[in-house]
Amino acid sequence: MSNIIEVSGLKKRYKDFEAVKGVDLIVKEGEIFGFLGPNGAGKSTTINMLSTIIKPSEGTAKINGYDNVNEKNKVRASIGLIFQESTLDEKLTANENLMLHCKFYGIERKIRDERIQEVLQVVDLTEKRSNIVETFSGGMKRRLEIARGLLHYPKVLFLDEPTVGLDPQTRAHVWEYILKLKEKAGITIFLTTHYMDEAEICDRVAVMDHGKLIALDTPEKLKSKVGGDIVEVSTEDNSAAKTLIKENYQTEVNDIENDHLSFRVNKGSEFLVDFIKQFDIPIKSVNLRRPTLNDVFLHLTGREIRDETVSQKDLMRKNMQRRAH
Ligand SMILES: Nc1ncnc2c1ncn2[C@@H]1O[C@H](COP(=O)(O)OP(=O)(O)OP(=O)(O)O)[C@@H](O)[C@H]1O
Ligand SMILES: [Mg+2]
Repeated sequence: MSNIIEVSGLKKRYKDFEAVKGVDLIVKEGEIFGFLGPNGAGKSTTINMLSTIIKPSEGTAKINGYDNVNEKNKVRASIGLIFQESTLDEKLTANENLMLHCKFYGIERKIRDERIQEVLQVVDLTEKRSNIVETFSGGMKRRLEIARGLLHYPKVLFLDEPTVGLDPQTRAHVWEYILKLKEKAGITIFLTTHYMDEAEICDRVAVMDHGKLIALDTPEKLKSKVGGDIVEVSTEDNSAAKTLIKENYQTEVNDIENDHLSFRVNKGSEFLVDFIKQFDIPIKSVNLRRPTLNDVFLHLTGREIRDETVSQKDLMRKNMQRRAH
């Protein structure tokens, strides 16, 4: 498989703040490549540099063989781009939104109708072609944006947080379409997410934190580096328990959500039998599971990704929903 994206030493500075601190990576044609990281990690900044929306301060990037600074137009013709924030014109119909994009990309007039038909079919929105976008659900809008990103047959589709703010069922639905694209169109997909389960679906994942890539591999390999099993425990006195576990088992212990501690052990089920019998501090709850990408992040940074990643927008949306009920 050939390299469709090649990035070397890519940096972005805003005054004296370095948002992206030197990214190197290669994406193979046909891959689903995920960028996983908490809020402010530099994911959107990286996608915006790759897609020529912003200019890098240093480094180079080639997309489909074209330079993202010196061959902007060729890069733009090679990619579809779905921004973190919706950019649909809500007052127009689905068809009108797509037509605008056709014009913008110089798609020949006589094939516009056919293309629109084709992409609407991919995302199951054929019936909604003449409806005003304002009347669409969040998931439908996202699907329409994906369709729009496909109109000019791009080689690479960039999706910045394709499912943020959608409910789990709609997220799963949007993912169905993303996977279908890979199968059908053989397109390369580069996406950012802070959802672990989405990162799991990717062929390879780059983990980003504070502007740097701190790991890059298949989800399986990333998880196998953490290894063993993860114990999650809540006790009557977590801070004492933390010290005790560290001393007794020489393992790193992390505070995680819902008043639990988590730590890694080998052979979890054997460990748990003795642990429950022997531990001096009363245990409120305990469970055992395989490592996830969240544990990978925790292992690499000592922090949980999910703590920081409920974005302000998500929070606002939740609060508004709560108020409405
Ligand atoms: N135009 C700008 N000027 C100054 N700082 C910026 C600008 N754009 C982004 N930043 C900063 O760069 C950092 C990376 O931002 P970026 O939007 O790339 O993060 P992200 O990983 O996409 O986060 P999120 O998950 O919230 O979308 C943040 O600290 C942000 O405040
Ligand atoms: Mg972002």
